[in-house]
Amino acid sequence: MITFTVEDRDGQQVPVEVPEGISLNLMEVLKASEYDILATCGGMALCATCRVQVLAGVEQLPPISDAELDILDTLPVMDDSLRLSCQLHVNESLEGCLFRIPEAD
Ligand code: FES
Repeated sequence: MITFTVEDRDGQQVPVEVPEGISLNLMEVLKASEYDILATCGGMALCATCRVQVLAGVEQLPPISDAELDILDTLPVMDDSLRLSCQLHVNESLEGCLFRIPEAD
């Protein structure tokens, strides 16, 4: 199992367990867990409505891609802890991370 923690907009933290080897990205897991994530573009790295703030473990995640950086750069406030959840594949790199769902646009 891969285990990480999600903090919702009320500050409540809940551990999420996902079986290893599953072919999903973090956005899909968050939506399936009924978190309020819009993901308007459906995972194409075009909308940034799936963004999450990485409060712990950002250094262990895969490097940010140019496409991801391009869309994050369009946000009014960009900081290094923001990632697009649709671009993060669920694998061991997410183990132990803490993801916060930021305020909606
Ligand atoms: S779902 Fe649109 S950027 Fe992730």
